[in-house]
Amino acid sequence: MDASILAFFARLPRQSPGSAAQTLTALGHLPELPPDARVADLACGTGGATLALAERLQAPILALDQAPEFLERLQAEAAARGLADKVEAVVGDMASPPVPARSLDLLWCEGAAYILGFDAALAHWRELLKPTGFAVVSECSWLVPNPGLAAKTFWYAAYPAMRTVLENIERAEGAGYELLATHTLPSACWAAYADSLEAGLADLATRGEALDADFVRALAKEIALFRNTGEEFSYVYYILARK
Ligand SMILES: C[S@@+](CC[C@H](N)C(=O)[O-])C[C@H]1O[C@@H](n2cnc3c(N)ncnc32)[C@H](O)[C@@H]1O
Repeated sequence: MDASILAFFARLPRQSPGSAAQTLTALGHLPELPPDARVADLACGTGGATLALAERLQAPILALDQAPEFLERLQAEAAARGLADKVEAVVGDMASPPVPARSLDLLWCEGAAYILGFDAALAHWRELLKPTGFAVVSECSWLVPNPGLAAKTFWYAAYPAMRTVLENIERAEGAGYELLATHTLPSACWAAYADSLEAGLADLATRGEALDADFVRALAKEIALFRNTGEEFSYVYYILARK
């Protein structure tokens, strides 16, 4: 990613729609984890989910992302909230996280599995889980069989492989997981994310900084769609137990 675009996203609290409350709602579908639980948040970005998990769980969280700029912000925020000793930020590749096979009690990933491919990510990450371990993975999913033209036009270009919730559940079960629950991100989170993108652009203007014009045009389309999104698509948390 271009350095100025990376810097733009590094100033945002999150790099995809969501909120601490939604993360904790998804977490609430899991049974209590053991006190010495091993937990990883993969492709954590600036750590919107990591911080919520660190505040709620007893366990320390391994927070992994490929972008050091994002992890610097996470570390600063963790320190400001008194959570520095609960967040271990690691620059790395989510395709090969530095954790032994069968070692994790909980693997978390919001808004990023699609980068590896939902199926490939689930298959690969299953090997990292203890036999009693859980994975919570959010994936942008169609919520209706016949979405409207605006949503179709955007997502057929941005993420043609996007599937329905039922299709993703089938794939997760086929990859060796039991589905415990799903949780769908409400449309308010998309509007809040659109607001954060717009605030980021306004902040750039006050700094006198500029971004690539094509990127800004693409962002404007996202902002318009995300602000007006209804119930046609959303990130869905797939809350899974290793079988
Ligand atoms: C859409 S953002 C989601 C970030 C965060 N989970 C959230 O919900 O705000 C995708 C993240 O994946 C990270 N990423 C992309 N490919 C990666 C890889 N192979 N390994 C680790 N992180 C990766 C990016 O740096 C970015 O932080």
